[in-house]
Amino acid sequence: MCGIVGCILKDKDAAPILLECVKKLEYRGYDSVGIATSSRGLSIKKDQGKIDEVDEKLQITDLPGLKGIAHVRWATHGLPTRENAHPHTDCKNRIAVVHNGIIENYKELRSKLEEEGHRFTSNTDTEVIPHLIEKYTDNGVGLEEAIRQAIQQIKGSYALAVISTLEPDKVIGVRKESPLIVGVGEDEYFIASDVPAILQHTNQVLYLDDNEMVILEDTGVTIKNLDNEVLIKEMHTIEWSPDMAEKQGFEHFMLKEIHEQSVAVKNTLMEESEIKETVKKFRHFQRICFVACGTSFHASLVGKYLFETLLGTPTEVVLASEFEYSSNSLDENTLVILITQSGETADTLKALKIANKKSQTLAIVNVVGSTATRDAQHVIYTRAGPEIGVAATKTYITQLTSIYLLATCMTENEELNQQLKKIPEYIKTILEMEDHIREIARRYTNTSNAFFFIGRGFSYPTALEGALKLKEITYIHGEGYAAGELKHGPLALIDDDVPVVAIAPPGKSHDKTVSNIEEVKARGAQIIALGSREDDVLKSEAHDYIEFTDEINEIMSPITYVVPLQLLAYYISIERGIDPDKPKNLAKCVTVE
Ligand code: F6R
Repeated sequence: MCGIVGCILKDKDAAPILLECVKKLEYRGYDSVGIATSSRGLSIKKDQGKIDEVDEKLQITDLPGLKGIAHVRWATHGLPTRENAHPHTDCKNRIAVVHNGIIENYKELRSKLEEEGHRFTSNTDTEVIPHLIEKYTDNGVGLEEAIRQAIQQIKGSYALAVISTLEPDKVIGVRKESPLIVGVGEDEYFIASDVPAILQHTNQVLYLDDNEMVILEDTGVTIKNLDNEVLIKEMHTIEWSPDMAEKQGFEHFMLKEIHEQSVAVKNTLMEESEIKETVKKFRHFQRICFVACGTSFHASLVGKYLFETLLGTPTEVVLASEFEYSSNSLDENTLVILITQSGETADTLKALKIANKKSQTLAIVNVVGSTATRDAQHVIYTRAGPEIGVAATKTYITQLTSIYLLATCMTENEELNQQLKKIPEYIKTILEMEDHIREIARRYTNTSNAFFFIGRGFSYPTALEGALKLKEITYIHGEGYAAGELKHGPLALIDDDVPVVAIAPPGKSHDKTVSNIEEVKARGAQIIALGSREDDVLKSEAHDYIEFTDEINEIMSPITYVVPLQLLAYYISIERGIDPDKPKNLAKCVTVE
């Protein structure tokens, strides 16, 4: 996820306004920033670093011209460096492009363009775009047509903003599967990834659909389809406050990020071919050891169940903070998989150092260029985009997606691979239950005692994650337990003030979990059960029921059954008047041991 902006102003320099606009998109990315403006030629300033740091270093707003484009980057292809920062240009520095999205076929396009003599200066997927546009303008077509021809070569998702000295009066935007909106002010015009970028300047907005192009000129805005036909669009007046707009109308980042999970999984699934390449580089191993903290530890636990089920390889899971006390049996036959969304968690980095000395290491990370990605021998990226809410939601789901993809690539399990592809649609359907979950949350808001979350097998990590979300953002104690373990002690705590959230998807563990539900129900517990739509037995035991399609079996359940648990914690937090984005005593990235 990156943020792009473009503008044409009437009588002000564009660069300071563009910087102000991209600052409002920092939630979409913050590892690099760049601006290009056009006056007599193109002027570009860009670098790696947070917006304010780069501005202080380069005086990035000191660029001439009333027109320009700007970008905040969240690295996907290529590390966060100056070379990889946008805007990217063609060989002759006449075309500048900023891009949000992923170009899936960039490697083929790049080698073809290189064969044709184009020179590349970055490792990004984006750089193929200015070179493609250059190729077509060199063939004699105008800028608009060259952009149309270029995007016909591209597979993937994009929102682009383009300026060129060839047609210096225009700023052109185009989109497919990445957001792009048009802001219409008084004699000034904008394009942006999102409304907050432009809300200071106008609240009049046109929404572009896929395969549509917008041309900003001094005289106004023209929207066209790819057949060059002019389209008439409805103008919308935005009523959101700037703060609401940054969260796309959601009350909190956490809720926005819960809703982004379908897309985040879809983007992470696009990493399949990279993962296949990574797997080829592994040396032979006889055992696997997952290492992580908190939510990432719960993803690791799912990894253990999955790898032992599919690969039959002995797999252990160690808390990163405990790793140094239990790492003596590591050897060259062990693959150590470290999971960390930030790539900067001190406990995990320490474990990585120890593991690197004895074993092969693989890090599954969300932040490109973070320390874990530099220190690990192999890296797989999750594509959740930046996560602002302190409680991990979309990064957890994408960690699971990467683990499942890794398992399918290692085993060539086509059936599981096909099931994985359905997850984004399942998540969308699950989110339709939001009002129902909010109702359930209301009923349990005043629980004075603890909640129990129970599950067996693949549902045990889901129970732990549900309990952690509850603790973090509602300050109610949540106890995640293996359902079969209750009778060995905690059953003594169960009474009618203890809600028990039972996770019981169809599969091997289902019947025994139902027996455990009967045990706690007999002691007065209120049961919130999660299970299949067809499961009448489970339904009859539950006071509240959250239902899923029965196509989701036990093995696939961790990536989907956790979504209502995130919503449950979120809405209990809201009912209790807590800000779920900033729970007390917690930080997004824990850089101390
Ligand atoms: C919980 C949460 C934390 C992190 C943990 C590890 O919602 O976010 O438990 O999962 O601090 O962080 P990373 O994955 O960055 O290593």
